[in-house]
Amino acid sequence: MKKLASIATSNGGQVLELGFGLGLSAGFIQDCPDIEKHTIVEAHPDVREFARQKYPEALNTGRMEIVSGFWQEVSSHFDDESFDGILFDTVPLTPEDAGTFHQHEFFQEAGRLYHVRLNTYTLEEVRQKAEGRRQKERKG
Ligand SMILES: C[S@@+](CC[C@H](N)C(=O)[O-])C[C@H]1O[C@@H](n2cnc3c(N)ncnc32)[C@H](O)[C@@H]1O
Repeated sequence: MKKLASIATSNGGQVLELGFGLGLSAGFIQDCPDIEKHTIVEAHPDVREFARQKYPEALNTGRMEIVSGFWQEVSSHFDDESFDGILFDTVPLTPEDAGTFHQHEFFQEAGRLYHVRLNTYTLEEVRQKAEGRRQKERKG
């Protein structure tokens, strides 16, 4: 999470995070002094409440904003190129979601939202890279 957050905050400025979860990556993003604003899209109401309890000050000052809903429903409200970094880490909330859940669908939207160049990493990419390294080590 620390690595993902460091990539997402490497340009400072406006950072978009999809999926709050336990707020681990959110904590690392908040720790970055160069960010102006951290916008979080979170689908689950209980998780949003948890986030509000965890980060009251950041929410009060506007350094953090929580947008309610599924990214598929709300991301069109964001302007083109409005983010300098994006961290995508959502998981399906229901078995039905899992059937239709395609994390790569976000990449097109990421290209629209991302300012400067496409530099979005997902947890899955990091996992795949780590697995590739492990396989290489086993063979070698
Ligand atoms: C794996 S957790 C995120 C973990 C987080 N990066 C951390 O460090 O704790 C995934 C989160 O994504 C949320 N989520 C799932 N599908 C979503 C969607 N389509 N849009 C927004 N949030 C979603 C879940 O409610 C959950 O809070």
